[in-house]
Amino acid sequence: MSVQISPVVDTAAAVPYPSRTPAYAEPFAAASTTLHIGVIGYGYWGPNIVRNLHALDRWRIVAVCDRDASALTRASRAYPGMAVTNDYADLLRSTDIEAIAVVTPVWTHFELAKAALEHGKHVFVEKPFTSTAAQAEELIELADRKNLRIMVDHTFLFSGAVRKIRTLVDDGTLGSLYYFDSTRVNLGLFQHDVSVVWDLAPHDLSILDYVIAERPEAVVATGGQHLNGHADIAFITVYFPNSIVAHVNVNWLSPVKVRTTLIGGTEKMLVWNDLEPDEKIKIYDKGVQITNGQGIYDLLVSYRSGDVWAPKVEQTEALKLELEYFSDCILNDRVPLNDGAAGLRVVRLLEAAEQSLKGRGAIVAL
Ligand SMILES: NC(=O)c1ccc[n+]([C@@H]2O[C@H](COP(=O)([O-])OP(=O)(O)OC[C@H]3O[C@@H](n4cnc5c(N)ncnc54)[C@H](O)[C@@H]3O)[C@@H](O)[C@H]2O)c1
Repeated sequence: MSVQISPVVDTAAAVPYPSRTPAYAEPFAAASTTLHIGVIGYGYWGPNIVRNLHALDRWRIVAVCDRDASALTRASRAYPGMAVTNDYADLLRSTDIEAIAVVTPVWTHFELAKAALEHGKHVFVEKPFTSTAAQAEELIELADRKNLRIMVDHTFLFSGAVRKIRTLVDDGTLGSLYYFDSTRVNLGLFQHDVSVVWDLAPHDLSILDYVIAERPEAVVATGGQHLNGHADIAFITVYFPNSIVAHVNVNWLSPVKVRTTLIGGTEKMLVWNDLEPDEKIKIYDKGVQITNGQGIYDLLVSYRSGDVWAPKVEQTEALKLELEYFSDCILNDRVPLNDGAAGLRVVRLLEAAEQSLKGRGAIVAL
């Protein structure tokens, strides 16, 4: 049977995949300057952004904005004296504010980030960056033109576990990669505006974009919707050159919470269980070697089963590191590893997954 490969978006050629995403590097020497920021959105995730910004010397929160009065009451109770507003135009107009954090639902990211950039503010935008690749490209172009920074909140890239995994890939410990296989399932939280693909998979897709040096070639996704018209379970396969294959299982209908990733390489294999409090990563010296014997059917398969160990994983809160890095990128004019282009790559994968899902697993070329 021949398989139809359909191109996902015609924007793919416009912003090409760069070579390897740079690895996280410690912030430069502490800058004495304090940056001023406004935060839009104080729902579920906004309080985590505000808590971390508030704790960092490099940031001063000028105001928190939410159009929901009860959200503003919560913010005022948590941070007495902090300015709040229900109109984000107040943040745009403020000449004190150098950056804006957009922590609102996905469908609002483009409009709010665009307005912030147009008013000369750097932006920190929640994942997924935008609802379409075309929107992401427009924001990237706007930020470039105005010499402003975009950082997309790909939080996991700043976790100790992902930073360790990236090191293990880069220093050759794992060898050449065979596969990346992650499971991110739990019961709910059902989103009203997006499917489980756009809600949970950005985490895994941003991680595999960061960890795998090769650039993806095609996506296949299957899944189903059972309750609110949006897919609540999805199995996404991403094909890379050199037979590397990635698989992401996201599900809002799971009775238990699972956050496990397997990464197999020619030299070592690892299991990352993010729910483990201490030994989150275990590295297995296991592998398979196949050599040809005398005859054509005479394959010799040998299995290696050596030591297992758990490397030290830094425990610093990922968001704290990320927001510190954001200020560093602005002050020292560095391009963030999770810049708009990284956000765009994830949005392209999400669009491809959604297209494939609608086609019941049709292959979508990138
Ligand atoms: N990085 C992570 O790990 C992580 C985790 C959870 C959510 N998120 C992301 O954070 C974003 C927000 O998710 P959430 O779960 O907090 O959503 P939420 O619905 O709980 O909160 C969003 C808040 O934004 C406010 N809002 C919406 N439009 C507004 C506007 N125009 N002006 C002012 N306020 C406005 C709403 O009133 C609400 O209080 C989403 O993009 C989501 O994907 C990221």
